[in-house]
Amino acid sequence: MIFTLLSTSLAILGVSAAQTTPVFAPPAACPVCTSGNYTGQNNGSLPIQPRVSGKAYSRFIQIWLENTDFDTAQASSTFSKLASEGILLTNYNGVTHPSEPNYVASIAGDFFGMSDDNFYALPPNVSTQIDLLEAHNVSWASYQENMPYIGFSGDYAQKNYLDSSSKVPYTYYKRKHNPFIICDSIASVPARMNRIRNFNDFAVDVNASALPSWIFITPNLVNDAHDTNVTFVSAWLEYFLVPLLENPKFNDNETLILLTFDENEDYKSQNTVYTLLLGGAVSPYKGTVDSTFYTHYSSLSSVQNNWGLGSLGRQDTNSTVASVFQFQANMTNHTNVVSDATPLMNLTGIFPGVCASQRWIPVTAPNMSVIGAGGGPVFTSNVTSNVSVDNTMPINLTAMRVVNPATINPNYTMPSSGTEVNAISTSASASPSSSVAASSKSSAGYANARLPPAMTTGLVCLFFTVLLL
Ligand SMILES: *[C@@H]1O[C@H](CO)[C@@H](O)[C@H](O)[C@H]1NC(C)=O
Ligand SMILES: *[C@@H]1O[C@H](CO)[C@@H](O)[C@H](O)[C@H]1NC(C)=O
Ligand SMILES: *[C@@H]1O[C@H](CO)[C@@H](O)[C@H](O)[C@H]1NC(C)=O
Ligand SMILES: *[C@@H]1O[C@H](CO)[C@@H](O)[C@H](O)[C@H]1NC(C)=O
Ligand SMILES: *[C@@H]1O[C@H](CO)[C@@H](O)[C@H](O)[C@H]1NC(C)=O
Ligand SMILES: *[C@@H]1O[C@H](CO)[C@@H](O)[C@H](O)[C@H]1NC(C)=O
Ligand SMILES: *[C@@H]1O[C@H](CO)[C@@H](O)[C@H](O)[C@H]1NC(C)=O
Ligand SMILES: *[C@@H]1O[C@H](CO)[C@@H](O)[C@H](O)[C@H]1NC(C)=O
Ligand SMILES: *[C@@H]1O[C@H](CO)[C@@H](O)[C@H](O)[C@H]1NC(C)=O
Ligand SMILES: *[C@@H]1O[C@H](CO)[C@@H](O)[C@H](O)[C@H]1NC(C)=O
Ligand SMILES: *[C@@H]1O[C@H](CO)[C@@H](O)[C@H](O)[C@H]1NC(C)=O
Ligand SMILES: *[C@@H]1O[C@H](CO)[C@@H](O)[C@H](O)[C@H]1NC(C)=O
Repeated sequence: MIFTLLSTSLAILGVSAAQTTPVFAPPAACPVCTSGNYTGQNNGSLPIQPRVSGKAYSRFIQIWLENTDFDTAQASSTFSKLASEGILLTNYNGVTHPSEPNYVASIAGDFFGMSDDNFYALPPNVSTQIDLLEAHNVSWASYQENMPYIGFSGDYAQKNYLDSSSKVPYTYYKRKHNPFIICDSIASVPARMNRIRNFNDFAVDVNASALPSWIFITPNLVNDAHDTNVTFVSAWLEYFLVPLLENPKFNDNETLILLTFDENEDYKSQNTVYTLLLGGAVSPYKGTVDSTFYTHYSSLSSVQNNWGLGSLGRQDTNSTVASVFQFQANMTNHTNVVSDATPLMNLTGIFPGVCASQRWIPVTAPNMSVIGAGGGPVFTSNVTSNVSVDNTMPINLTAMRVVNPATINPNYTMPSSGTEVNAISTSASASPSSSVAASSKSSAGYANARLPPAMTTGLVCLFFTVLLL
């Protein structure tokens, strides 16, 4: 009875209770073709920037799929075929559950106590791999399939291209899979925002030979297996990645491609995800297997090692969880610390952090005394404080009814920067027919992702005032 009522109300909201996996259909005529299905218009390619040669490769591309156990992916003939083209990493792990903290960890070196997929905006003094890359003139971009336009900060629903008869908009794009928009050190800098692009931009950038040197690709919620299954994602890989491996504007002898999953599906087991190293940079190692213990922090340390970058002074410098890809370590004489006891990476729950509303502490200072795999200094910006807050007693904002200043109102949407489309806002309960909820005003209590640092500080002061009251 309860179930009937629930499914009836879900049906009214246009959500199908028993989601069936659709059959894959290509969103565009080819991986480097533009398509109306991507919604956002292309605005021209990025400028062509010279590639900075690294010790093992001069381009690093990571592609993130979703929520699949190792054995499930291994059973797919597509994944097996791809494995024969590169190195299969059999002990590569997500760092926690659910999705969003894994994405954040992959660029910021920590997940700051985040334990859900809510709308966060990490303050400007959280540095990321982007700071390290830019300090060495290594060009970068992220391609987020079905993100409607540059600067868009919400979730986005649009016409369902897999079911042309459906009148219900489908949410193909979610903020939680775009770590760049979650970090204000990126999201508050327009020049950086222009490098977070969609797949129409990807098509134009590839064709113009303008792909940057460091790339993070997030397929949409059906193509990354989030809403579908391994059969579907395998079909997407056959459509997208298999031909791109043969495209010299994407993959050449100095390209390393990391194909991975954000996390596994079964929270009750170690968080190992089927991960491949592909591309010309590993052509001498085709069909080999590497059982070194890696995590998403390894993609940070490996890139730092390749280009001799600085570090973030966070888990990217923790040798237990941040081994450098072994084929590369052999080339650069980097020594990985191999431990017999591998830590469990399926931890979930409430750890202290700026994103943990129930155990809140400020953004902790990076460890300034470590040297990461790149050998360079720990990055600090003019907004980083090195005041250690490691011993700060966590406070329970939830109990105090104080909204965490590191969260934003899910209804908040940044203004478009010139490529406006008829966006349809989709916070979970938004009416499918409503147009973009472009309110730049934040509701009471929410920090605004675009507040300048001074105002963020003001908010924190306000919040402490509330505490004292
Ligand atoms: C994925 O879903 C489709 C459609 O429901 C189904 O035919 C296929 O067998 C599923 N794949 C797996 C591996 O379960
Ligand atoms: C969108 O994708 C569907 C499914 O593959 C396809 O039939 C349609 O032609 C595509 N639309 C555009 C504008 O490319
Ligand atoms: C890659 O190919 C280019 C052009 O053919 C060549 O100049 C370069 O040395 C090659 N790099 C490696 C690492 O083999
Ligand atoms: C993590 O996985 C281990 C098995 O590898 C299991 O014993 C443990 O209960 C899991 N932890 C959580 C929080 O589910
Ligand atoms: C390094 O990672 C391990 C495993 O997650 C953890 O136990 C340890 O506390 C970490 N070290 C530091 C300095 O964060
Ligand atoms: C790295 O070098 C070691 C020692 O020479 C060797 O055993 C190992 O197979 C190499 N690993 C890779 C991935 O090349
Ligand atoms: C690594 O060590 C070997 C042997 O000592 C040396 O020949 C090589 O130049 C070193 N490579 C790098 C990148 O430092
Ligand atoms: C920090 O540096 C950036 C760019 O270099 C500048 O725009 C910003 O105003 C500076 N902020 C502070 C607080 O000094
Ligand atoms: C980051 O800024 C907040 C104030 O906005 C401050 O409380 C915190 O200590 C800072 N942390 C670092 C590492 O700069
Ligand atoms: C924080 O407060 C809430 C609301 O009172 C409570 O449910 C929760 O258990 C507390 N969390 C912790 C970690 O103490
Ligand atoms: C978001 O917008 C919806 C629809 O207008 C509204 O019901 C909801 O309260 C808003 N949420 C917040 C947190 O402001
Ligand atoms: C798109 O192009 C226009 C005109 O060249 C420019 O003003 C605008 O900033 C661009 N927008 C983006 C998102 O790149």
